Amino acid sequence: MHKRLAAIIVLAFSLVVGSQTTPAFAALQDHSTAQDGPLQPKVEGNNKRPWPDEPLVTARHGMVATAQHLATQVGLDILKKGGNAVDAAVAVGYALAVVHPCCGNIGGGGFMTLHLADGKDVFLDFREKAPLAATPDMMQNLAGEVVKGRSTRTYLGVGVPGTVMGLDTALKAYGTMSLAQVMAPAIKLAKDGFVLQPGDVRILDTSTDHFRQHPNVAAIFLDHGQPWQAGQVLKQPELARTLELIAKKGTRAFYDGPIAAAVVKASKANHGLLSLKDFKDYTAQWAKPIECEYHGYTIVTAPPPSSAATICETLQIIAPYPLAKWGFHSTKSVHYFVEAERRAFADRNTYLGDPAFVHNPIKKLLSAAHAAKLRASIEPDKATPSSEVKGSLGPYESTNTTHYSVVDDKGDAVAVTYTVNSYFGIKQIAGDTGFFLNNEMDDFTSKPGVPNQFGLVQGEANRIQPGKRPLSSMSPTIVLHDGKLFMVTGSPGGSTIISTTMESILNVVEYGMNVKQAIDAPRIHMQWYPDEIFAEPGAFTPSVQSALEAMGYRIRDVHSMGDIAAIVVNPKTGLLESVNDPRYPAGEAAGY
Ligand code: GLY
Repeated sequence: MHKRLAAIIVLAFSLVVGSQTTPAFAALQDHSTAQDGPLQPKVEGNNKRPWPDEPLVTARHGMVATAQHLATQVGLDILKKGGNAVDAAVAVGYALAVVHPCCGNIGGGGFMTLHLADGKDVFLDFREKAPLAATPDMMQNLAGEVVKGRSTRTYLGVGVPGTVMGLDTALKAYGTMSLAQVMAPAIKLAKDGFVLQPGDVRILDTSTDHFRQHPNVAAIFLDHGQPWQAGQVLKQPELARTLELIAKKGTRAFYDGPIAAAVVKASKANHGLLSLKDFKDYTAQWAKPIECEYHGYTIVTAPPPSSAATICETLQIIAPYPLAKWGFHSTKSVHYFVEAERRAFADRNTYLGDPAFVHNPIKKLLSAAHAAKLRASIEPDKATPSSEVKGSLGPYESTNTTHYSVVDDKGDAVAVTYTVNSYFGIKQIAGDTGFFLNNEMDDFTSKPGVPNQFGLVQGEANRIQPGKRPLSSMSPTIVLHDGKLFMVTGSPGGSTIISTTMESILNVVEYGMNVKQAIDAPRIHMQWYPDEIFAEPGAFTPSVQSALEAMGYRIRDVHSMGDIAAIVVNPKTGLLESVNDPRYPAGEAAGY
């Protein structure tokens, strides 16, 4: 009842505010502790926010936080049965593909950051790849103009999916259960169906018109042509069959069998580029995570092709400023945070790309000297126009998502962010495979200087090339304190992921909030271009807002950003603490 009411309130608010947004930012709308924290942050204006209160959850042994309550329960059951965090994460990955189909997926890709109980930190990249037939200008017409919708709504937008390979690779390396065991709950949810909550329906409703255009999608995601209502049961028998095939035959079924064949057939029939070889050649890969220090905490996060290095670069720039003393979202704190982000995003958009194709100057970007140089360029009382900020290493040289967090009894921690990019990807399903295909090709630079659906203006390093992975903002992150697990965090939200994830960390480690306060707190974001601060309702008091505007800032009101799924280890009690992000009322944090 509580969640239903919440969803209605959020929906009502988004209808009012969301309708005023421009198409370029539709995607942003898509994705739209009992710790005795030393500070109780005072956030005037919070009462203006449209989402309700979610309870803090504490647990001794294990915790799962996801965007859909049934997926959370799947992970929790696996933990209670003796599975470890990786078993639970793989089970949740498949369950979300069923109960959170906008974003949970087997038709997309993602990243997994792991901190193992023995102290080892590892990272798994299962991001989609561009088809081998892809070309740098494939999103442009003969006149060199980017064709609207080509990268987001057509089969040309589809990258080779990585999720099935990624989940299998993680399970084989660090799991203890069989693929059939961890997939069983997802198969049951797809076959028997699940009762839709208002939060689920709200997401489906975003795409009703698109579902109507494709009979095989409408047959599942509409009820005789009409939107599903809360309380009805959504069954996905075709997806159940696809999942059963994977559970029986493993990754071969997906990459070298009937599923690949069905996707390639649909792609060819719809002017796409996917080939059987694209599927056969797909690999997930292990990499060293990026690590940086902030005020005694170690941030362990995703390396390229993620751009989570932007979190570390921003933190490096702001580290010397006394943000806690200035106060959460005070004029000064916002000014230095936003200016740091502006500069770090300029670097992101200029230099970062798939490391298999371009050199990512991470060492330079995260160096103390670079941070000092950027810090020196910030004026104390004035916004710097983005037009005056460039990728700052000199000329370029050669170069709606979902997040969940799991911690088990031993202290293994898994942070997963995976995606089909926009809600429901291209909003099409190949034949009777039952799953949505991603539109991750839109994360590439379709043309240097032309913004993508997140408004990101990107450069040469992220141009389309055959077999290349598009640059991502997904930032599954683990925070350590004295080498021990302190926090697992991450979010959906396209380019805003970086800010949302970073603010979740800063709110706890800098402003002393508990996890509930940190997630409830209103969010802001700046990504170089557009030259605006994106701000949730209540992000600033009226006086802070006026002061920022007087300094030259333009503020864009957005109704919400992100959906943090975070778990914090309370340093005093050692208990795990989490909370559902109230912006996504269908989600749940649960532990035991
Ligand atoms: N698809 C959003 C991202 O990877 O940044």
